[in-house]
Amino acid sequence: MAKWAVYVTGTFSVLLLVVSIVLLVAHTFMNIVDVQVKQATVLKNGTEVYEDWVSPPPPVYMQFYFFNVTNPEEVLTGEKPIVEEIGPYTYREYRPRENIDFHENGTEVSAVTTKTYVFEADKSVGDPNVDLIRTVNVPVVTLLELSKDSTIIKKIVEAALKAYKEGMFMTHTVHELLWGYKDTILSLVHTVQPDISDTFGLFYKMNATDDGEYVFLSGKNNYLEFTQIMEWNGKKNLDWWTTESCNMINGTDGTSFHPLLNKDDIIYMFSSDLCRSIYAVYESSETVKNIPVFRFSPPANVFANASINPQNSGFCVPAGNCLPSGLLNVSSCKQGAPIILSSPHFYQADKSVINSIKGIEPIKENHKTFLDLSPLTGTVIQAAKRLQVNVYVRKIDGYPITENIQTLFFPVMHLNESVCIDDESAEKLRSILLQARVVANIPFIIMGLGIILGIIFTILTCRQSRQREPGTDDERSPLIRTS
Ligand SMILES: *[C@@H]1O[C@H](CO)[C@@H](O)[C@H](O)[C@H]1NC(C)=O
Ligand SMILES: *[C@@H]1O[C@H](CO)[C@@H](O)[C@H](O)[C@H]1NC(C)=O
Ligand SMILES: *[C@@H]1O[C@H](CO)[C@@H](O)[C@H](O)[C@H]1NC(C)=O
Ligand SMILES: *[C@@H]1O[C@H](CO)[C@@H](O)[C@H](O)[C@H]1NC(C)=O
Ligand SMILES: *[C@@H]1O[C@H](CO)[C@@H](O)[C@H](O)[C@H]1NC(C)=O
Ligand SMILES: *[C@@H]1O[C@H](CO)[C@@H](O)[C@H](O)[C@H]1NC(C)=O
Ligand SMILES: *[C@@H]1O[C@H](CO)[C@@H](O)[C@H](O)[C@H]1NC(C)=O
Ligand SMILES: *[C@@H]1O[C@H](CO)[C@@H](O)[C@H](O)[C@H]1NC(C)=O
Repeated sequence: MAKWAVYVTGTFSVLLLVVSIVLLVAHTFMNIVDVQVKQATVLKNGTEVYEDWVSPPPPVYMQFYFFNVTNPEEVLTGEKPIVEEIGPYTYREYRPRENIDFHENGTEVSAVTTKTYVFEADKSVGDPNVDLIRTVNVPVVTLLELSKDSTIIKKIVEAALKAYKEGMFMTHTVHELLWGYKDTILSLVHTVQPDISDTFGLFYKMNATDDGEYVFLSGKNNYLEFTQIMEWNGKKNLDWWTTESCNMINGTDGTSFHPLLNKDDIIYMFSSDLCRSIYAVYESSETVKNIPVFRFSPPANVFANASINPQNSGFCVPAGNCLPSGLLNVSSCKQGAPIILSSPHFYQADKSVINSIKGIEPIKENHKTFLDLSPLTGTVIQAAKRLQVNVYVRKIDGYPITENIQTLFFPVMHLNESVCIDDESAEKLRSILLQARVVANIPFIIMGLGIILGIIFTILTCRQSRQREPGTDDERSPLIRTS
């Protein structure tokens, strides 16, 4: 081996080692990955990110579970309600973004999302048009609450309830309870108060409609602002801790998140059906379809009452009137109906609330809301938004029918709106993650090469120095000795 080749090997070895260490210290290739991810994180017409935002490929399912009351007579006499969970009734949810409009040089984009629900029989327990559910008579309970301060109206309401044989409980099909039915009592109210609808349904007017125009930031100025909500129905940046009304904050609408996620990031989500935003924090690291994810979930603190989390005092309405932990009064968003939201089966709610109903069994895995996000790209890999609709029921003076009833947060229905990445998108993301891993490992590959060259260099130098030892070469060579 020529001497120069040995020196070249040695020099390259040192060079590669130095380069690899410099690259590692300077995070160069990590930064290249980060820059690429950041550059991709912008809504711009024509890009794949944009297409996926306009019509997200993974299917979204909305599943409803109802609580069928088995002892209505006994509840009226003051006994604990017994409920039986019936579900799921599953609907595929289609939600393309429409009326998309870019403003301010492409830094903002406005859009509406029309949600359409299509029933999926093979993912459901029965036919929503046939299955009957007995539950609290929400229109009647609302009317009782709203009329509680007027003796005269109370007399009229009582007479009407008698005449139409309406009571504290009602039985309707799943379809009617969700999508609306013409209610006897509401029809009466409607004749004197035309702005009150004669139809009741938990998701009435929610099919094939949108919840208003959102204005998002595109992420053009800063990837951290990608799809951050700026405006909802003309309302701008309201402070979400102190505002009681149906408000909003910065944060996304639950479909896309910032890339390069850290475990100490806090995710703010706005939800128009919660009438507020909630936040989620890192909970665990999981793997979904071979993709590593961070699981984020709202901490118990989000719905804790003011004695446990003073920041939540804004949700005590009227001021000072706090509910037990785990409950959210959304009455003001529901035309005064005494609707209280919680997690399904009162998960994370006060023990007294859970124990007030027989048939309620909170299970963390089934009943918590969570988001599984790819830490590198911020892509939603899997998510489930779960909540429960309850009605506040109590004794109201002047209404004998409520005379013996306990004060209850009566569960009516819970839902699970879930999404899981489709196989095609998962495959695409896995190859992006692989590429990123390869690129991020380039310094180590260079370092490896440097080490291999270093070993070759060492071997060669040892051999050469042995060959150079004077007078020994010839004697040690057996070939020469025998010749
Ligand atoms: C996006 O680009 C296409 C083709 O250039 C155009 O037809 C479409 O109107 C654009 N969309 C928006 C929201 O600007
Ligand atoms: C858009 O960009 C142009 C050129 O960069 C600038 O002159 C203009 O003020 C910008 N307009 C808005 C609304 O930001
Ligand atoms: C919602 O509307 C769509 C189209 O208007 C219809 O096909 C679908 O059956 C409706 N879903 C329900 C639950 O009524
Ligand atoms: C709910 O309870 C009512 C009354 O007991 C019963 O008629 C109905 O069949 C039950 N619903 C389902 C879906 O089991
Ligand atoms: C979102 O709002 C919170 C509270 O108002 C603020 O502290 C935070 O910096 C905002 N986040 C972003 C990304 O603008
Ligand atoms: C918070 O809830 C607990 C029980 O869950 C209750 O004892 C306490 O009074 C509530 N705090 C306020 C301020 O209402
Ligand atoms: C819910 O809030 C409304 C006002 O928005 C209030 O009148 C009602 O008393 C509250 N309900 C409960 C159970 O605290
Ligand atoms: C949604 O949550 C319910 C429990 O609330 C669970 O039984 C169901 O399997 C979940 N659906 C999906 C698609 O994950």
